Amino acid sequence: MKRIGLLAGSLRAESYARKVARNLGLMGPNTVMVEPISLAHLPLWHDQLSGREQATCQAFKAQIKRLDGFCIVTPEINRGIPGCLKNALDIASVSDDGNLWQGKPALIASVSTGKLGGMSANQQLKQLALVLGMQVIQPSEIYLSDVEQLFAKHDLLTDAQTVTFLKLAMTRLVAAVQGAEPALTFDFGPDDVQLQRQGQTIGQATFDWSTGLLVITGVTIEPDFAHQGLAGQLMLKLIVMARLFELSIVAGCGYSQAFFKQHPAIAQRLCLH
Ligand SMILES: Cc1cc2nc3c(=O)[nH]c(=O)nc-3n(C[C@H](O)[C@H](O)[C@H](O)COP(=O)(O)O)c2cc1C
Repeated sequence: MKRIGLLAGSLRAESYARKVARNLGLMGPNTVMVEPISLAHLPLWHDQLSGREQATCQAFKAQIKRLDGFCIVTPEINRGIPGCLKNALDIASVSDDGNLWQGKPALIASVSTGKLGGMSANQQLKQLALVLGMQVIQPSEIYLSDVEQLFAKHDLLTDAQTVTFLKLAMTRLVAAVQGAEPALTFDFGPDDVQLQRQGQTIGQATFDWSTGLLVITGVTIEPDFAHQGLAGQLMLKLIVMARLFELSIVAGCGYSQAFFKQHPAIAQRLCLH
């Protein structure tokens, strides 16, 4: 299965860039894996790193090497990209296998609490992506201004225009990574996720998101599409959501309880007991 890395150029606990990157992770199909990439532990790169720092860089490079594409979301700080993001790009640009970004598709977006959407940082990042040989996905101009206003009561993006725009970019990234458009897609609302095939809604899961908890309150599939494993696809999506947003799951409906009974290893890791 192909893998997409989610990179956010901020170390802030409540970073909007990270929240947007996590939302992009939810917008893909279940046929690609999404993997958050942490930058917090990386040393500032130079040529006299300690053994431990070198090991940290090697582990980071190994992670970048096994990823097939990236969503990179940058904030703008003093009209440029933050140092943590530049440092990470630099570290993985040199390895025994060469530049590890080379040839990989990348969705590039910028965020800002201001009105210009981090446009300068975005231009810088695209220039860097070009230097590093990444394949920048269209639309290549994703500037999210007033970013703090785009979320629902929790960290899901709910601004319809923004979601539509980001989904288009994510669909293109997935197509570039796996060579085909996804057959099943997902549409998140503040309290539900819909499963779609060729634009038709064929199933739905409802949830409550309170602090640190994702309570699954229902999973339904349209009768014509029953017995094809599609409810499991909705569950998989909710599991990805719990992982990305660091939520514990509460199986609050019959189907989710039965699902976790069948998958005790997942239940043990993610469910509140
Ligand atoms: C020191 C500093 C400089 C900033 N400079 C800019 C800037 O040049 N352009 C801009 O649009 N926003 C700027 N901002 C606002 C950031 O866009 C905002 O703080 C954003 O939420 C940071 O991203 P994060 O939430 O992912 O950490 C700046 C913020 C700080 C603290």
